[in-house]
Amino acid sequence: MEIKQFRYSTDNFAYLVYQNKSTLIIDGGAVDSILSFVNQNDLVIEFITNTHTHPDHTLGNTSLLKSSKGVFIDMDELYKTEFIQIADGKLHVLHTPGHTKDSFCFYGGNFLASGDTLFNGKAGRCFSGDFRGFLKSIKTLMELPVTTNIYAGHDYVEEYMGVAKQLMPDNGEIDKFLKKYNPNHVYSTLADEMKINPCLKFNDNKMISVLKELNLPVKTEYDRWKSIMSVV
Ligand SMILES: [Fe+2]
Repeated sequence: MEIKQFRYSTDNFAYLVYQNKSTLIIDGGAVDSILSFVNQNDLVIEFITNTHTHPDHTLGNTSLLKSSKGVFIDMDELYKTEFIQIADGKLHVLHTPGHTKDSFCFYGGNFLASGDTLFNGKAGRCFSGDFRGFLKSIKTLMELPVTTNIYAGHDYVEEYMGVAKQLMPDNGEIDKFLKKYNPNHVYSTLADEMKINPCLKFNDNKMISVLKELNLPVKTEYDRWKSIMSVV
């Protein structure tokens, strides 16, 4: 199963997931580029869906549905879906509330389409207000194989690496990651995220010291997660 990234509206990403000719579109805002890639490669759009319902992620849905025979999988359907069958491949649907209540990630092949739940270098903002649920979702994602490629909903890499550097000035992995950054193909591995993403460091001793210096609560894992989320 393959994934192809398309940039639109400056920093948004749409994704096309395909196995043989069968194709699923996730957050398909880059309508023209998606349709020309589909035509050039003789692909068939079978499904169209979203990582969540923020308008910058759903704005391509209507045009794609008009221009293809793709079936729309809405959020109500995603809640009930364990995986989406794409040709002979399974794309797993993970309900990951936190950024919004209706946030989903998609895991297949060696990749995760993580929407605004997990960016390259930070977790998404907690618009749902449910920090506890968000931590649970993030911990679920952290259990995926470390070789998993993380394809996020936006490119905020340079900005977020600036934030990460402020919190972890002696973390040499941040510059290494920035050197690899390519705006034409933006992704990280879960192993990268473990090294550079402050939001995944709620059990990291160095991060705990930083939080203590900032006089932020560190007693429980949840305290530390919430403290980190308050400074990134
Ligand atoms: Fe969002």
